[in-house]
Amino acid sequence: MTEQHREIDVLLDEKRTFEPPAAFAEAAHVADRGPYDEAARDREGYWEAWARQLDWFQPWREVLEWNPPFSKWFVGGALNAAHNCLDRHLEARGSALALLWEGEPGDRRTYTYRELHEEVCRFANALRGLGVGKGDRVAIYLPMIPEAAIAMLACARIGAPHSVVFGGFSPQSLRDRIEDAGARCVITADGGYRRGAIIPLKASTDAAIEGLDYVSSVVVVCRSAATDPEAAPYGDAVETPSCDMIEGRDHRYHDLIADASPECPAERMDAEDLLFILYTSGTTGKPKGVMHSTGGYMTQVTATTKWVFDLGEDDIYWCTADVGWVTGHSYIVYGPLSNGATVLMYEGSPDWPDRGRFWTLCESYGVTVFYTAPTAIRAFMRWGDHWPAGYDLSKLRLLGTVGEPINPEAWIWYHENIGGTRCPIVDTWWQTETGGIMITPLPGAITTKPGTATVPFPGIEAAILNEEGNPAESGYLAITSPWPGMLRGVWGDEERYRETYWSKWPGIYFPGDGARVDEDGYYWIMGRVDDVLNVAGHRIGTMEVESALVDHTAVAEAAVVGRSDEIKGQAVAAFVSVVEGVRTSEELRQELRAHVVTKIGAIARPADLIFAAELPKTRSGKIMRRLLRDVAEGRALGDTTTLADPAVVRSLQRQFAGSES
Ligand code: PRX
Repeated sequence: MTEQHREIDVLLDEKRTFEPPAAFAEAAHVADRGPYDEAARDREGYWEAWARQLDWFQPWREVLEWNPPFSKWFVGGALNAAHNCLDRHLEARGSALALLWEGEPGDRRTYTYRELHEEVCRFANALRGLGVGKGDRVAIYLPMIPEAAIAMLACARIGAPHSVVFGGFSPQSLRDRIEDAGARCVITADGGYRRGAIIPLKASTDAAIEGLDYVSSVVVVCRSAATDPEAAPYGDAVETPSCDMIEGRDHRYHDLIADASPECPAERMDAEDLLFILYTSGTTGKPKGVMHSTGGYMTQVTATTKWVFDLGEDDIYWCTADVGWVTGHSYIVYGPLSNGATVLMYEGSPDWPDRGRFWTLCESYGVTVFYTAPTAIRAFMRWGDHWPAGYDLSKLRLLGTVGEPINPEAWIWYHENIGGTRCPIVDTWWQTETGGIMITPLPGAITTKPGTATVPFPGIEAAILNEEGNPAESGYLAITSPWPGMLRGVWGDEERYRETYWSKWPGIYFPGDGARVDEDGYYWIMGRVDDVLNVAGHRIGTMEVESALVDHTAVAEAAVVGRSDEIKGQAVAAFVSVVEGVRTSEELRQELRAHVVTKIGAIARPADLIFAAELPKTRSGKIMRRLLRDVAEGRALGDTTTLADPAVVRSLQRQFAGSES
């Protein structure tokens, strides 16, 4: 039993609950739990009503076509995602603020809906001018600057599916994703800021695409353009590196848009046309390209943003995720902008120039709705109550969390120290694959309990099942009917789609998480049950890290497991045996950790790296990861009877204890 499980047991016993504040009961239109009943009675009719809130160029013939495991939503309908995020609001909210942005050095920019529309149209035309058309994949490798959202929307406008790659990924990871998607255009920047340092994204892009001749154009955003260097109070100067431009291939973003027309008709997209691909880690070595369509995805993110975050015209909404992850796609760009909301976007680190930066931002922009990850909350807790206490956070009215189970202690801290005990907390469970939020309280309707994401959103049907597919109190989380935002496949690999998500029980989606249900029907998510780690809210496949390690010439064999980490939830622990003749040393340990960073990115860097003369295996030669997890957690070993050589694991235990001291 992990620490998290123990804490949940205590809380279930205590039955600590938080009633929804009365202000929300009125505001959210959900006080009588009506939508839950309505959706249960007529799920398709309920989703259809949400879809009607979007602008369609052509209405659908049929709400759902379900040929498990393939679904089509709003069949025959035509729409455009960027049109729904921008043009739809021009009349009523053209001069309202769409985007407020602050860079890490403190430089600022704002865009009204009209300004954002114009910039997106210009860039969409520029992309068309580079030969990018409907169906062409475009890779986006940008820091958290407005152009990240602009690039996504420009792609959506011309029907070119984007594949956003997190700026912290290595050139190798970027290359893998460009190759897999066959992207011929890459959008990047000369640099971006993180904890005072400049991340040289263009140089990484050059390394990533070396020799990939089909990449015919690279657009480079100059990070410091349109910024007044005087107005950068937290950085010496807003200066990004000069970068080499390759004639004919590389284009400066600002030159392109200066020459482009501000009028750009939005491409008519079928409801099922691909909106984007987003790569995520799974149980094999290679990340998979999760595919999302236009109509169903837009319907679900619009609905969930509206009800879960209760967004209104006066709200200042801030989601701290990076657009490189699905949270940034659904709840920085598509969901909030489809609702005509005002979104704050911040480029940098929460501890730059000091640990009060997030609260400075909340205070100075008057943030009302704040959405972040448990890892961040645990870091804030460790930094001390005095940081948030020093700021005026009284405008906040709703808090959210996402990405990993939140331990009840962190939930209570968040409630008291950030929410001033008045803000409801929405703990939202969902995944890259689900497109939008699936399990969550609705503020105003659902009593919350620290540590549980509570109940499925209206129109989402879930269950907890055992291996055989029978309902259980504790077992695997399952989604039992199709939902509009569900992934439509894995790019280029239909078999992997069937195998990963639909092979456990026929016609039922398996997300890969363990869960329990309590007497109120609340879902308590216990974390992954497969070989995927969740480090600081980021998914990392153990096989991916193992492949990176064995890629090093000194490594013969590697096994990677997760161990609990007080701040990050989980940390990567690697066990490595070296090839004969190689001497293990502290230098080699550091070299191997750095090698993983070079291959994947800093998020995958092993926290522990233990050299093993041999890895513990069964007599049939299978690595016993269960025992490695016991070693990494520093706990007593489970059943060792099938182990070929018990001495192997004892020696690892001794080494691990030694490496920690
Ligand atoms: O294990 C669950 C965990 O994050 C996984 C999905 O990761 P990703 O696709 O990267 O998307 C993260 C942002 C949506 C899930 O399988 N997870 C996400 N949210 C929660 C969570 N675990 C517990 N509680 C949550 N609220």
